[in-house]
Amino acid sequence: MNVSVFGIGYVGCVSLGCLAADGHRVIGVDTNSEKLELINSGKPTVMEIGLDELIYSGVAEKKITATDEYVSAVKNSDVSVICVGTPSGINGNLDLSHVIKVSQQIAEAIKSKSSFHVISIRSSVPPGTVRKIENLIAEISNKVADEDFSVITNPEFLREGSAVSDYYNPPFTLIGGNNKKAMELIASLYTEVKAKVEYTEIANAELIKFVNNSFHALKVSFANEIGNICCALNIDSREFMELIVKDTKLNISPIYLKPGFAFGGSCLPKDLTALENLAGELKIETPVLSGILKSNEAHIEKAFKLIKSTRKKNIGFLGITFKEGTDDVRNSPYVTLAKKLLDKKFNINIYDINLDLGKVVGSNKDYLFKELPIISDYIVHSFKELVKKSDVIVIANSKLVPVAQILKIQNKIIIDLIRIDENLRTKENYIGLSW
Ligand SMILES: NC(=O)c1ccc[n+]([C@@H]2O[C@H](COP(=O)([O-])OP(=O)(O)OC[C@H]3O[C@@H](n4cnc5c(N)ncnc54)[C@H](O)[C@@H]3O)[C@@H](O)[C@H]2O)c1
Repeated sequence: MNVSVFGIGYVGCVSLGCLAADGHRVIGVDTNSEKLELINSGKPTVMEIGLDELIYSGVAEKKITATDEYVSAVKNSDVSVICVGTPSGINGNLDLSHVIKVSQQIAEAIKSKSSFHVISIRSSVPPGTVRKIENLIAEISNKVADEDFSVITNPEFLREGSAVSDYYNPPFTLIGGNNKKAMELIASLYTEVKAKVEYTEIANAELIKFVNNSFHALKVSFANEIGNICCALNIDSREFMELIVKDTKLNISPIYLKPGFAFGGSCLPKDLTALENLAGELKIETPVLSGILKSNEAHIEKAFKLIKSTRKKNIGFLGITFKEGTDDVRNSPYVTLAKKLLDKKFNINIYDINLDLGKVVGSNKDYLFKELPIISDYIVHSFKELVKKSDVIVIANSKLVPVAQILKIQNKIIIDLIRIDENLRTKENYIGLSW
């Protein structure tokens, strides 16, 4: 395929070399004449293992050229890949001026182009950018989006230092768009890349780089805080973290990475607080660890505000224990939420067959009666009674009644804290906490 690559820095130069090696004819476009000269003399613009050979042979075989003549580059290509920089702006938002500038140039060029042209955004951009660029191109070129041209997003996952190897081994090739022809055309650029192609909504592909990089940053800072605690305790931090990552069941796994309600129970809050206190005694700053409980409290507050916004007073909890399949209410975030509501004079009803007030004992009982002293006044003995007595049903447990019964609820608001069932989401008066 013929491809024009706008921006020949780290991402663009690696794309030039790899696309050419995979049999495509590539035209690099940049405003920096030094970079153009480097490419045209067979040299890469950045240092990366294996890139010298790729650029050298690509230029020698006339598969790579570089120019600042964007009109001819667009006219002589089927696809334009945008790889220009999106640096941090003054307020911390990404500066999209380079992306906008090259989009205007591409629009100018496709004005007089008769064949379908695909614009693939490889730069990291915030959600909403593809739509903005599509409108801009349509306005300038007088062409129709998805008929004459299509804008898709195809984020780049490479890391500097291992960019060529990462290009060929990404976690997956992600293509966000709504035009099948354009998306498949972009996928065909990567037939030599050993990774599954994932087609997704535009917004997913736009958001993913922010979230990936924030997650990576969180992991670095978390590991460093743990490393500092280990160091102060004379524990080998590297050896210790190797044990942590060996647990691929609960630690390095999808578990605990599903948006839902706040965490609670007898272990997570207790041990997190104990670790923070230990760090405090060791005079170690742990802002990441300290932020976790704050985030959890904010999530409970979000649910409280959502319930309050219904302007209803009678709130029914389907489930109150900290998670399914247990009678443990210690540090249950649902108890915290119920308490918040009681403090603000809401009426509470609770249906939870796992919680038998006659059988609950020990610290579990102590916690329950300390937090909700007149719990027996709130307990109802059937789901039917819960629905009858409540204006809002708060779903906190998916195993207490069949979903079919919840689906039958009418004239009540359902607030789902756990994303119980996809069929429920289309119901009128359904509100999901974070979906
Ligand atoms: N560097 C990485 O490791 C990496 C990894 C994944 C994604 N990204 C993202 O990819 C994008 C590019 O990053 P980079 O590190 O390659 O940037 P870079 O600064 O190395 O390269 C950007 C290039 O764009 C050129 N440019 C600017 N305006 C132009 C214009 N109007 N026309 C043509 N060229 C123009 C610049 O001259 C420069 O050569 C960014 O959004 C970045 O966040 C970077």
